[in-house]
Amino acid sequence: MIAPVSLTRYLVEKQRVDGHISAHLRLLLEVVARACKSISLSVNKGALGGVLGVAGTENVQGEIQKKLDIIANEVLVEANEWGGHLAAMASEEMTHIHPIPNRYPKGEYLLMFDPLDGSSNIDVNVSIGTIFSVLQLPEGATDVAEKDFLQPGRNQVAAGYCVYGPQTTLVLTVGDGVAMFTLDRERGSFVLTQDGVHIPEDTQEFAINMSNMRHWDAPVKRYIDECLAGADGPRGKDFNMRWIASMVADVHRILTRGGIFMYPWDQREPKRPGKLRLLYEASPMSWLIEQAGGAASTGHGRILDVQPHALHERVSVILGSKNEVERVTRYHQEAAPAA
Ligand code: AHG
Ligand code: MN
Ligand code: MN
Repeated sequence: MIAPVSLTRYLVEKQRVDGHISAHLRLLLEVVARACKSISLSVNKGALGGVLGVAGTENVQGEIQKKLDIIANEVLVEANEWGGHLAAMASEEMTHIHPIPNRYPKGEYLLMFDPLDGSSNIDVNVSIGTIFSVLQLPEGATDVAEKDFLQPGRNQVAAGYCVYGPQTTLVLTVGDGVAMFTLDRERGSFVLTQDGVHIPEDTQEFAINMSNMRHWDAPVKRYIDECLAGADGPRGKDFNMRWIASMVADVHRILTRGGIFMYPWDQREPKRPGKLRLLYEASPMSWLIEQAGGAASTGHGRILDVQPHALHERVSVILGSKNEVERVTRYHQEAAPAA
């Protein structure tokens, strides 16, 4: 019988055999995985652990923080502070960047995370997750600052998420495909359960919050109208819909069986580019999707090429099965060729 491959062994081999990641990046990913294991335990305890409900505070985006948003943020910060692998961290739940305190050694990596994605699903026992993205400190940077984080997603050196669902699954890319690891609670470790994840190019399943339909831009409305028209419409086939309201869970489904996910710009707040955050939601998810053969677009261009201007900047997100994402992007071009 072939022994199962643990995350640790996978990362050691990525470092040693492929020379694909540095020792510090390996340590960083081990630490993030350990933090996710700890968050998973809190999530599983639910009401028994007193972790449900609101914390009574607001984050920089004006969202009410849930207890688990704060717990997950603290777990990730504490786990990553002292290992010597990071220069700084940034999080959805922290207004400013968190440089590594001077009492600890510093490394060359920058870690960004959405500690708890899908907060509205915590109290109702629906899948939630943690999203993370890793960048390198720009060369020559001395004192780390917010501007060092403002790099396009194509600069990422690692990205992933951990989904806390019926199984706890860590999904990771270091730039050579996407691997999935399932948490084996008896062993206490993540075990490789799928490598070389591939998203089918075509799909008959879309994910979008339909309650925003009246606010959508014309190209998005056109695309969804055509899907809804089904076999009798221009697409000539029926479509199915899913919306979990946890990006991790929606993206996990797409990595597993294909589909398209959209949280596009809409007219509710025309000056706001979208709802999802570029650095710690859209960028890591887009890279995972591209690494699995899918595509990720704002409607006007590749998400990984967007130049960020602020830590908590938002962006329009259309990602998943390649041919569908290209179709929605084409509809945007046809609607506003000069844009
Ligand atoms: P977060 O819980 O980190 O704030 O993110 C929630 C995001 C994303 O996970 C999800 O796709 C989307 O918000 C759901 O938004 P709606 O409630 O507007 O559908
Ligand atoms: Mn989120
Ligand atoms: Mn969050």
